[in-house]
Amino acid sequence: MTHTELPSAEALRERIATELLTARDRTAGLTDCVADHELTAQHSPLMSPLVWDLAHIGNQEELWLLRNVGGRDPMHPEIDPLYDAFEHPRSERPSLPLLPPDQARAYAYEVRGRVLDLLAASPLEGTPLLRDGFAFGLIAQHEQQHDETMLITHQLRRGAAALVAPAPDPCTAELPAEVLIPGGPFTMGTDTEPWALDNERPAHQVDVPAFRLDTTPVSNAAYQRFIADGGYQDSRWWTPEGWEHRCRAELTAPLFWSRDGGQWLRRRFGTVEPVPGEEPVLHVSWYEADAYARWAGRRLPTEAEWEKAARHDPATGRSRRYPWGDAEPGPEHANLGQRHLQPAPVGSYPAGGSPYGVRQLMGDVWEWTASDFRPYPGFRAWPYREYSEVFFGPEYKVLRGGCFAVAPVACRGTFRNWDYPIRRQIFAGFRTARTVDVD
Ligand code: AVJ
Ligand code: FE
Repeated sequence: MTHTELPSAEALRERIATELLTARDRTAGLTDCVADHELTAQHSPLMSPLVWDLAHIGNQEELWLLRNVGGRDPMHPEIDPLYDAFEHPRSERPSLPLLPPDQARAYAYEVRGRVLDLLAASPLEGTPLLRDGFAFGLIAQHEQQHDETMLITHQLRRGAAALVAPAPDPCTAELPAEVLIPGGPFTMGTDTEPWALDNERPAHQVDVPAFRLDTTPVSNAAYQRFIADGGYQDSRWWTPEGWEHRCRAELTAPLFWSRDGGQWLRRRFGTVEPVPGEEPVLHVSWYEADAYARWAGRRLPTEAEWEKAARHDPATGRSRRYPWGDAEPGPEHANLGQRHLQPAPVGSYPAGGSPYGVRQLMGDVWEWTASDFRPYPGFRAWPYREYSEVFFGPEYKVLRGGCFAVAPVACRGTFRNWDYPIRRQIFAGFRTARTVDVD
């Protein structure tokens, strides 16, 4: 090693240790705040028992770091199939012989102790899994993704509130409703972001015709106008599949909303409260987002449009890591990391705006896009097919930008999430776009 590599390897080790610790603090907060019987209970057939996520976090960490990177033998090979997400659907997991809460915790912490020893001895170079600490970054992101999943379970759980967090600041910004994104090519995806996942690669040029994009996510107040205008009763606004789903599922409002006389209420982490008009709408399916957009005379943005608005810097022609530049997300940029348990009012975070003046692309609410989840040209599955490749196809829609529950380590301008178009327990909202007519 040269004298310049030593401090940077040490700095990378420290960054990794901090990310692992940040994730574990959050995991602890989400699993220590309820009694053991609430950890083993299934709060919704859509979700695993919290105790499954806890041991699965430890099991994936053991698999990727202790076994694949460290070459260690399995600690408890008999439990591996229980925590393989592809062996048992979520609805089946409560009936499996899962580790009870105390053993699940002990296992996850035992793995972590050994991982910190491995980290201290790892060269963080030499193999593709080790380069730039990728495997450690993968595991820090994985734990944070399951922390978001567990937060969704908390939102679905009935009973008194178990989690608290301060509300975001109010916002008085007066902004134009939409901005113009001029036509032209931009670089989508990445070859250089060290911890980017396989589906974000490779970087490639995409020509995006001019379009207009909402400056902020669609608010609850705007969404209430769609409801009040009979949007849920008018098949004109819905795709045929969307309308069929809307009728079968009897959708009349976002998930967790209820009507009390003239007022809309929502349940949020165990508290029922009036729906705040200024907040981005949350807990809507892709079908509802798409119907709202058509009602508004608009459409959902494509994934490429979203990423161009979030990353393209027209002054330099290059793509940024985040809308505000290349700096890591701070509290002034975006509502990330579960600092709050709700989105911030539309128009918040001026320091997090993009060069085009679009706000809140990162954090607050995941944003549904018009696009199916597909591989980029030149995609290579890495380091396992089951992260992305097995999900490519028309049945999943892409969501972008992260939400208040997403940790900075698991969020980038290139990050892609996906889900079924009927799903609404996720922390998803949307913004709308429209095509610019050219003559
Ligand atoms: C990328 C959020 C769709 O939670 O299913 C967690 C992330 N992959 N464990 C999911 C993931 C494996 C994944 N999403
Ligand atoms: Fe997982």
